[in-house]
Amino acid sequence: MLSRFGPLRSLPSFRFLALTPPFPGEYDGPKMLTKVPGPKTLELSKRIDGLQDPRALHFFANYSKSIGNYIVDADDNVMLDTFCQISSLAIGYNHPDLLKAAMSPEFAQAVMNRPALGLMPPTDWPDLMQDSFLQIAPRGLSHVFTAMCGSCANESAFKAAFMAYRHRERGGKPFSEEELSSCMHNKEPGSPKLAILSFEKAFHGRLFGTLSVTRSKPIHKVDIPSFDYWPMSPFPHLMYPLEDHIDENRKEEERCLAVFEDIVQHHPVPIAGIIVEPIQGEGGDNEATPFFFKRLREITKKHGIAMIVDEVQTGFGASGTWWAHELWDLPSPPDMVTFSKKAQASGFYHTLETRPSEAYRNFNTWMGDPIRAFQLRTMINIVKRDDLLNNVKETGAYLKKKLEEIQKRHPDHISRVRGVGNFLAFDTPNVEWRTKMLAMCRDMGVNVGYCGSVSVRLRPTLYFMRKHADIFLTILEDAIKKCK
Ligand SMILES: Cc1ncc(COP(=O)(O)O)c(C=O)c1O
Repeated sequence: MLSRFGPLRSLPSFRFLALTPPFPGEYDGPKMLTKVPGPKTLELSKRIDGLQDPRALHFFANYSKSIGNYIVDADDNVMLDTFCQISSLAIGYNHPDLLKAAMSPEFAQAVMNRPALGLMPPTDWPDLMQDSFLQIAPRGLSHVFTAMCGSCANESAFKAAFMAYRHRERGGKPFSEEELSSCMHNKEPGSPKLAILSFEKAFHGRLFGTLSVTRSKPIHKVDIPSFDYWPMSPFPHLMYPLEDHIDENRKEEERCLAVFEDIVQHHPVPIAGIIVEPIQGEGGDNEATPFFFKRLREITKKHGIAMIVDEVQTGFGASGTWWAHELWDLPSPPDMVTFSKKAQASGFYHTLETRPSEAYRNFNTWMGDPIRAFQLRTMINIVKRDDLLNNVKETGAYLKKKLEEIQKRHPDHISRVRGVGNFLAFDTPNVEWRTKMLAMCRDMGVNVGYCGSVSVRLRPTLYFMRKHADIFLTILEDAIKKCK
């Protein structure tokens, strides 16, 4: 069969080559005209300062000129983007298929007539759900709650966990009068003391509920009231390379699991759910092995605690699988999997057991947005057609191997190369050096993100290929040498 990219893809003798077609119309490489931030960004920052806090801004971008893996800034600098809108750009900038979908009458209708999806969904909503969310549903989770962002997805999942927990405790009976009246005063038994456990260095969002489980940086949490009885359990700190530290890492994971099980058994407040990231993104790209997650699943199952896997950052292909937790081979599926970022649409997958007992208990006005489901559907089709998950696996493995070689050449500046798929990271000696080195990378044409206290994280698109990896690696090594 001929593909859009000609007959090459269907010839068996070429199957050993990477099958991913190039991103249509992409730039050949970075092109830098000024330092970043350049004069136009500085001028726009000054203007925005009168209207909005500009202090977190990196640069202003020109989204009409940005294509594929390249972002163009206000000063017309063309940069290879490995940070991709805080890890939320799966397909690259201005993909023609997405632009075409966005110009379609059905997309325009959905933009103009934004429905309250919980009340009056459009007639094509069941088909759209089937062709988008359900097409990539994690094994065992056949229901979806659609939400507005990663934090909302997580908070809605917490609510589902609490409601399912109390429903079980009540033995399926209706609410008592006392429960209904006490909850209006934020008092027990209607507002019960129940906890969600999270892990040291975790990041799950910045709203009131999610801030109580976020443990990455004090600056996110300070001054905000929290659920102080929601416990924190240690997350493993692994040694690298993994294959040389199997015994030490196993011991470290067993240590963390022992503390976890102790909290589960003895915490003064019942734990209704735990939330865990497959790789702790914001907190420093901290990993654990499948052994750790399998044990978490066994322990939560044993104690009737919901296991919520937060795939907001890891989900939608970055691991080389749709969902990073697929790599764990869990004995039974997690109870809920939350998503946002790269999927563009937000929400959580769950089973019928965690559907609330009555309507309106987990609800909001928009409950997501059909245009994000259109976008998701189109992106899934692109990923499948262009074999992007395999591209992530191949390019990711190449990139990791090359980063390990750079690490060998510059052991005082690069350490702990880690990650799966193209969700990769490494450590630097300290925050000052990291800041200098990343600024140098940007001035040389690569936009790179950081996380944790000293880590650098790579979050490229699923279209990031070997040629992009080579450009990135050359610039990275040059920047390391210049900053030594
Ligand atoms: C793992 C994880 N969960 C939740 C969130 C919160 O998502 P949002 O910023 O869309 O609220 C983030 C954001 O970075 C995240 O990385």
